[in-house]
Amino acid sequence: MIKVKNILCIGAGYVGGPTMAVMALKCPQYNFHIVDINQSRIDAWNSDNLPIFEPGLEEVVKEARGRNLKFSTDVEQGVKDAEMIFVSVNTPTKTFGLGAGEAADLQYWEKTARMIAEVSESSKIVVEKSTLPVRTAEAMSRILKSNSKDISFEVLSNPEFLAEGTAIQDLLNPDRVLIGSEQTKSGLQACQELVNIYKEWVAAEKVLTANIWSAELSKLVANAFLAQRVSSINSISALCEATEANVEEVSLAIGTDTRIGSKFLKSSVGFGGSCFKKDILNLVYIAQSYGLQEVADYWRQVIIMNDYQQERFVLKMIKNMFNTLAGKKILILGFAFKANTGDTRESPAIYVTKKLLEEHASVIICDPKAIESAKIELKDCKGTIEYEIDPYKAAEECHAIALMTEWSSFKLLDYAKIYKSMVKPAFLFDGRNILDHQEIHKVGFNVYPIGKEALTN
Ligand code: UDX
Ligand code: ADP
Repeated sequence: MIKVKNILCIGAGYVGGPTMAVMALKCPQYNFHIVDINQSRIDAWNSDNLPIFEPGLEEVVKEARGRNLKFSTDVEQGVKDAEMIFVSVNTPTKTFGLGAGEAADLQYWEKTARMIAEVSESSKIVVEKSTLPVRTAEAMSRILKSNSKDISFEVLSNPEFLAEGTAIQDLLNPDRVLIGSEQTKSGLQACQELVNIYKEWVAAEKVLTANIWSAELSKLVANAFLAQRVSSINSISALCEATEANVEEVSLAIGTDTRIGSKFLKSSVGFGGSCFKKDILNLVYIAQSYGLQEVADYWRQVIIMNDYQQERFVLKMIKNMFNTLAGKKILILGFAFKANTGDTRESPAIYVTKKLLEEHASVIICDPKAIESAKIELKDCKGTIEYEIDPYKAAEECHAIALMTEWSSFKLLDYAKIYKSMVKPAFLFDGRNILDHQEIHKVGFNVYPIGKEALTN
């Protein structure tokens, strides 16, 4: 039986970093070591300027770092020293070969599994944290167990449900923690070791255990259900714009039915983030590989609707700005895929910006936390792209504003001042429905919300 004292996490990203930091904070009796192959990322974790922006993270890291939390690039030594290893490396969608565009690219993950098997000198519990296709744990188990040494490995699946922007709160007060294990004596013992860690701060009834495949599948299904709600309400926003209904009134009316619930019914320019699209594509690929075409088609539609919503947003801009954007300057207000994060992965702002550039508009991008990531996302784009942290400066001489991220600071801006500095007629497309549209219309803007009547002059 493996007794855990030293815990390693491979991959110091959006998942690994915050998760281990909170565990270290809550479990001072264990040692936590986070490793990554990316030296600059590790240097940033060891500095005052953390590599990711996440409210509350800095305080947690400052308290635990140097006590029972350390960051390094010494992956192999870390493996040797640990009794429990979380694997939290990236698993992007494959861009080549079989399953390209749908299946998960498991090369980083498999390299990690082989490396663990090679360098380990003692038995270990290996915990999948990255979202992986169902039955990956089985493959991991086989790679690990194919080592010729006299040591054993137990593989657990412990999917992460944190959302960016609220990661620390989600980790401190999770709705549930899910741990999947093999239903053997040693599998259940390994599961109990991880349960013991979570029990330091999570109520026992919230720590759910399951068989390993149920745990893996639950992660994909949770994200698919959440994304499906966003696509469902976004489909209705198109209908609202075509009729005289108001999507916010519809959301409120249906969300007050306790069977439906009010969360994830906010209509927007579309969902982004590193998980939703990737996980649904994974689900689609898995369903297809089991010959379940109808199931695959059903879930694929969630993504089709999300693509449609983004496309519709750009078409609305073109149509209402007199069918031409050539030579016009447009402010992209917000580039992160949601508020309170600097993460831009799969952000609808990427699609919108690229389409505007194709129409020969020039764009200026303003975001309180995501400008550096935006530069990376758009590095291969042709056309005029500027970046400006000050929204007032950014709006000067613009023909239109496309609001892409629901940063609360954007609600507090002086839109009368902004209007004055813009080219007239001035347009505002609120891709998040966060502004007071009546007020902004009064100032002089032509306002185009999502799923609500446009207010034009
Ligand atoms: C998601 C899941 O919520 C989390 O449990 C999982 O671990 C990882 O994936 P995340 O992608 O960080 O988290 O953010 P989330 O809050 O789910 O938002 C995803 C996208 O949906 C964002 O672009 C957000 O703006 C959009 N969204 C969300 C809407 O457009 N409307 C809503 O009502 C809710
Ligand atoms: P997530 O959002 O899932 O946390 P990220 O891309 O933010 O994804 O983080 C994954 C991290 O895993 C990256 O910092 C990357 O450098 C790291 N990584 C990938 N492969 C390996 C590996 N073989 N060993 C150590 N770290 C790795």
